[in-house]
Amino acid sequence: MRQSAWRKITRDLTLDDDSVEMLFDLPALFLLVGLVGWAALSWRKRSTDPYAPLPIIGHLHHFLGQPKYRYMQWYLRRAEHEGAGKTFEVFLPGLGRCVFITDPQCLKHVLTIKGKEFTKTGVFAKLRKDFYGTGILLAVGESWRAQRHAGQVFASQSTIENVANILLPQDLQRMFAAFDQAAAEDKVLDFWALAAELTLAVFGKVALDVDSDRFLAMVAQPFDHALQGISRRFTNPLWKLAETLTPEGRSVRHDIKAVRAICRAFVQETVEELGNEQVGEKAVHEGRALFIRALMDSTKPMTLDELADSCTVFIIAGRETTADAMTWTMYALLQHPTSLEKVVNEFRELPDMPNAEVLSHLPFFNAVINEALRLYPPVPTEMVENTSPHPNMLPDGTLVRPGDLVLFSPWVMARLKDRWGPDASVFRPERWFEMKHKPSAYELPTFYAGPRSCVGQTLAKVEMAVMFKELFARYDVERGWDGSERVMGEGLTCPMKGGLPIKVSRR
Ligand code: HEM
Repeated sequence: MRQSAWRKITRDLTLDDDSVEMLFDLPALFLLVGLVGWAALSWRKRSTDPYAPLPIIGHLHHFLGQPKYRYMQWYLRRAEHEGAGKTFEVFLPGLGRCVFITDPQCLKHVLTIKGKEFTKTGVFAKLRKDFYGTGILLAVGESWRAQRHAGQVFASQSTIENVANILLPQDLQRMFAAFDQAAAEDKVLDFWALAAELTLAVFGKVALDVDSDRFLAMVAQPFDHALQGISRRFTNPLWKLAETLTPEGRSVRHDIKAVRAICRAFVQETVEELGNEQVGEKAVHEGRALFIRALMDSTKPMTLDELADSCTVFIIAGRETTADAMTWTMYALLQHPTSLEKVVNEFRELPDMPNAEVLSHLPFFNAVINEALRLYPPVPTEMVENTSPHPNMLPDGTLVRPGDLVLFSPWVMARLKDRWGPDASVFRPERWFEMKHKPSAYELPTFYAGPRSCVGQTLAKVEMAVMFKELFARYDVERGWDGSERVMGEGLTCPMKGGLPIKVSRR
């Protein structure tokens, strides 16, 4: 793309947006401050229920300004307090009544049986629309069907082979170069940053056909920043004001626009190239831009903006989640040296075969990633909304009124002792060999469940297998921190707070 076009994109990203309109939220701020004061004064005596909501502010004080891991722990304590499978209510100004479920039958009801009535087109869409646009995570109807079909085509066996055998090994060289340098200088590395770079590079190529270095240089930083900003909206009822008045808030909006504009420009480039592609040149692009190809072949014709939104959201869905999964798996292995040794031995004994097939030959590693994904699900909480005009009764008798949100959390569900036993919170891969039945997606919704469940589950697991296989074949890895427990950081997914410091040396 010509320089001038890129300059135009940058110029278009000035802050001349609808910010002024947001200032009309100022009265809301004063009203809220007044109400909070009134609530605090009028609150005489706490009821005997330690989880009872406060007047007006509900449970906001457990969330506002709290790091994510704290309020996740609060959800867990509350779920344990109520008893496994019991639904409870959370009240948050701006979000209203939230019904928190941990019962698999209730989850099946919400995601599948009455899935059409529980959608993300209400509050959820309001909080993310400016970033996700018409992309799959917010899409409904024909647009969703077309994108989902393209996603399934994209995440099929041929993409898995292409990623595992060609693209991932290429992009792993960047990670290993960083390892070699850190080993030579005896430095500590942030494994999360390298994993996030790796998965972004792979997605850039496979989805958009963009050269990794160029893609990373332009997108990585604004992408991460925009995602962090969006995640803060959930716990800050005054997010519009914050994004209008504070420099940090304004820069979040700027980065959201930047990522969308950059992705659009890349999509335009790729679409033009694909249009010019001669039969003889096809091999040049073989295995790349697969997602755009699948979208362009879909039944629903898409505009350039729709294609760009779809690609951006696809990257959001697949990149950060896989990087988080890689990071927490590495963390779990470093905290459990016996499991680490078993994994390294299992990789060492692998017969020679294409990378795309290794996962099916690694029973212990499979148990390790299942266990890491159980304890550290990359999407720790989820929400849908009763967007139908009718109240809806859950199987346990809870009434969900129109506009109510339903929350659930694979992170919480995986830690319930009644369901997983007294060692529910312990990393123990062996449990996966002891189970009589593997948990259903409704019992452990790490990859969501029902018609909108994740299309990239196998691709993500194969990426993890290849990355760890190649890595442990070359390097010994040890902890680069004091060994204390690490917690989740901020973001839409489940990144690790402060990253994962590791030390590496050549085997
Ligand atoms: C360990 C890695 C992954 C985890 C834990 C994960 C988890 C999830 C979850 C929880 C959802 C539901 C999100 C929502 O509706 O709010 C989802 C949806 C989705 N995921 Fe993944 N994902 C992973 C990797 C991937 C990869 C690698 C891809 C790319 C092929 C992908 C593509 C998608 C798509 C397209 C959807 C939307 C499905 C729909 O709305 O119909 N995911 N994923």
